Amino acid sequence: MNNKLRYIGLMSGTSADGIDLALVEFDDNLSEQANGANLTASYYQAYDNDTQEKIMALYNPGNNELDRAGSLDIELAKQFSKAIKELLVQENLTAAGITAIGCHGQTIRHRPIKSQYATNPFTLQIGCLQTLAVLTGIRVIGDFRTKDIALGGQGAPLVPAFHQAIFASNQNDVFVVNIGGIANITFLPKNAPDKTIGFDTGPGNALMDYWYSQHQAGRYDPKGQWASSGSICSALLSKMLSDPYFQHPAPKSTGREYFNALWLSQFTEQITLNPADIQATLTALTAETIAQEISQLSTKSDVYICGGGIENNYLVSLLNQKLSGHKIVNTHTKNINSDSLEAMAFAWLALAFDKNIYGNIPAVTGASKHTVLGMSVNP
Ligand SMILES: Nc1ncnc2c1ncn2[C@@H]1O[C@H](COP(=O)(O)OP(=O)(O)O)[C@@H](O)[C@H]1O
Ligand SMILES: [Mg+2]
Repeated sequence: MNNKLRYIGLMSGTSADGIDLALVEFDDNLSEQANGANLTASYYQAYDNDTQEKIMALYNPGNNELDRAGSLDIELAKQFSKAIKELLVQENLTAAGITAIGCHGQTIRHRPIKSQYATNPFTLQIGCLQTLAVLTGIRVIGDFRTKDIALGGQGAPLVPAFHQAIFASNQNDVFVVNIGGIANITFLPKNAPDKTIGFDTGPGNALMDYWYSQHQAGRYDPKGQWASSGSICSALLSKMLSDPYFQHPAPKSTGREYFNALWLSQFTEQITLNPADIQATLTALTAETIAQEISQLSTKSDVYICGGGIENNYLVSLLNQKLSGHKIVNTHTKNINSDSLEAMAFAWLALAFDKNIYGNIPAVTGASKHTVLGMSVNP
């Protein structure tokens, strides 16, 4: 019999903008293959300003972090549960109709390498799995990153294995570029599934969102209009590009612990520019760091772009300019809603947990071996 397995993937990224859900069906007999994944519905619930501020306040060291993180851990599980219930109503489903939730949770600290802050590398996602299971009545699979860290990896990125199953091609080199708060790329060289690599290129929208919110009303620069009213300052851009992260070879992953207001201030304090010019330069920084990495890996490819950054027309136009030999395509052409791709990957990682399928790629994360990721919590 051809049973359907139904998973809900839940992702909340470093932009801390809100919760993305993907309802994904898999054929039970196709379960070894992520390309049997069928996105049947999506749902988005924005965080209110208070929740966003509470998340952002935990990205960097501050007072009384334990109480704040502990309480937010439960609060986010409540908000996740609310979003899941709305999705069930939208789709006319009950909890019993869902095999499990694959919950990424909300990263509040990512320290994947030894540093002055972390003698032991770690990564921390909150949104209590047990509370979510109890509130929804659905089994929850989560904590996907810790096992990879235990194996000496960075615990990130985890999406390349899923990208490989969906996008790899025998005819063309393929990139999947996800422009969230941080931007990450997956490289799928043609005809070489064992050569997949993936890493964070650096800031996606995080610095642009920060700068915009300091100078304009709102959380982000709609369509990149404010940035496009400014001029890119090439001196500032090249100073920012000299940051060692951009030269560092993969595996590498990063977060708002590094690319934040403090990082930006070391450059902006030395220079007098109109704020819109800085916004234009930050947009160029995101485009340039993505394009540089792609150009080093391939001269001609299909570049699938996804994540909220693709709504920024100015950013996408800069990417097109810098990657003129490549074909930039929206994931819509693969019948995938680009906002749901990350959440879909966590639905697949939940299936992978249930089926004992490896979720990490050691060449991507730096882990010592392939492994099944995550843990399961019953309601
Ligand atoms: N209409 C838009 N114009 C410009 N930028 C946008 C638009 N919509 C979303 N974004 C950007 O996308 C971000 C959210 O993207 P998302 O993929 O959810 O990131 P994350 O995975 O980090 O949460 C927003 O913070 C904003 O920077
Ligand atoms: Mg988001």
